[in-house]
Amino acid sequence: MSDLGLMTRKSVAAIIAEAGEHALGKTLGALSITALGIGCIIGAGIFVLTGTAAAHYAGPAIMISFVVGGIACCFVGLCYAELAALLPVSGSTYTYTYATLGEIFAWIIGWDLILEYAMGASTVAVGWSGYIASLLRNFGINIPPQFAGAPWTESKLPDGTMVAGVINLPAAFIVLLLTAMLVGGTKESARLNNIMVGIKLAVVCAFILLGVGYVTPANWHPFIPDNTGTFGQFGWSGIMRGASVVFFAFIGFDAVSTAAQEAKNPQTDMPIGILGSLLICTILYIAVAGVVTGLVPYTELGVPDPIAKGVDVIGLTWFSVLIKIGALAGLTTVILVLLYGQSRIFFQIAKDGLLPRIFSDVHPSLGTPYKSQLLIGIIVAIVAALTPIDILGEMVSIGTLFAFVLVCGAVIYLRRSDADVARPFKTPGVPVVPILGMLFSLMLMVFLPLATWLRLFIWLAIGLVLYFAYGRSHSVLLNPGAASR
Ligand code: ALA
Repeated sequence: MSDLGLMTRKSVAAIIAEAGEHALGKTLGALSITALGIGCIIGAGIFVLTGTAAAHYAGPAIMISFVVGGIACCFVGLCYAELAALLPVSGSTYTYTYATLGEIFAWIIGWDLILEYAMGASTVAVGWSGYIASLLRNFGINIPPQFAGAPWTESKLPDGTMVAGVINLPAAFIVLLLTAMLVGGTKESARLNNIMVGIKLAVVCAFILLGVGYVTPANWHPFIPDNTGTFGQFGWSGIMRGASVVFFAFIGFDAVSTAAQEAKNPQTDMPIGILGSLLICTILYIAVAGVVTGLVPYTELGVPDPIAKGVDVIGLTWFSVLIKIGALAGLTTVILVLLYGQSRIFFQIAKDGLLPRIFSDVHPSLGTPYKSQLLIGIIVAIVAALTPIDILGEMVSIGTLFAFVLVCGAVIYLRRSDADVARPFKTPGVPVVPILGMLFSLMLMVFLPLATWLRLFIWLAIGLVLYFAYGRSHSVLLNPGAASR
């Protein structure tokens, strides 16, 4: 232990023992867990960002951007699979860091994960609001734009006038609705998730299968448009910038690890869920990117609904409505899983004493951390209702990539520090695979704007202040005499 105890590690044995005495219900099988992963992965990234990234950064080579993002996530996914099977507790990266770098880093990463989960949920809820407004318009119902946009954002009315947003009510509505479901029970939420995942998979596959026949190969030329002279605008630097933008589309496979404590057989279900969902989504993404850039010239794809634009080329109006329904289902499950994951991470942090006990209270009959879930839901709804969201999306990516670097490092560290603990799933090729995972993640972080880095540092600094104001004096590990939780 260091002088201040800040780097005190929690032993792997203690974490495994704690996992056995938890109060969350064990209700999830391998299929539900894979669906949980797909539920969280396919969302705003593919339905919105693919178009922007193709139009502004990579052109048809956005397919290569997806390959790069997929490879990076596969290296990281293999590391998550080892840790989630070894330490099946709901804290995910937070817990892995507690076992490696110690308490203060664990807290920082727990704080960082709020960017991925809570802010991610807010970001996707705003995407949901855009799609529901668009779908309702198909049926002649118009949500007044003032009530479907955050303050300081503007939207265009059909007559061309611009209207400033006041509050994004649909975004807040969907967050609160899903929060109510999650409070009601994990099993019920998983059932809804399975149905919605089925719908979105069907719609994505239908888009690929229907669209491929209408592809105009000329749209793929030039496959890698020449760089404009500005770093990141087309050419190879554009492909990399595109990869860091569409990285958002892959976020979610790691959220599977927060369900470890509710898995029936975490040792086998976790690797299947993490790697299975990642593989399925990567293949679908590359196919969707290929079809949409083959249907529409990439220069015209910088719209909020690029996939729907692709469908317009196919000329099936009913399918356009179906795509919007599929997108809504997709976005709904992403929000659901992110809200779920956030409450499970807080659950674990509160059990360790670094957050107030209210975050680890489990409802006696529902088996869910209901107080925490409600509080998270209310805060996420407020953020979604009032925040212009473009900046938040990049914050979500940088926060997640930061966590990925630590997860890969944790695999290497624990292989040495706890070499003898039985590992139900072993990351192949250690240390090469984790090192590649770290390098790819760092590379994607480098391609994000400087302002995003600054925001990340400010956010982490706030977290540090909170740790010294509360966590340090309440830590169960550092204050063994404190009330046990
Ligand atoms: N991967 C999720 C999405 O694309 C976060 O919405």
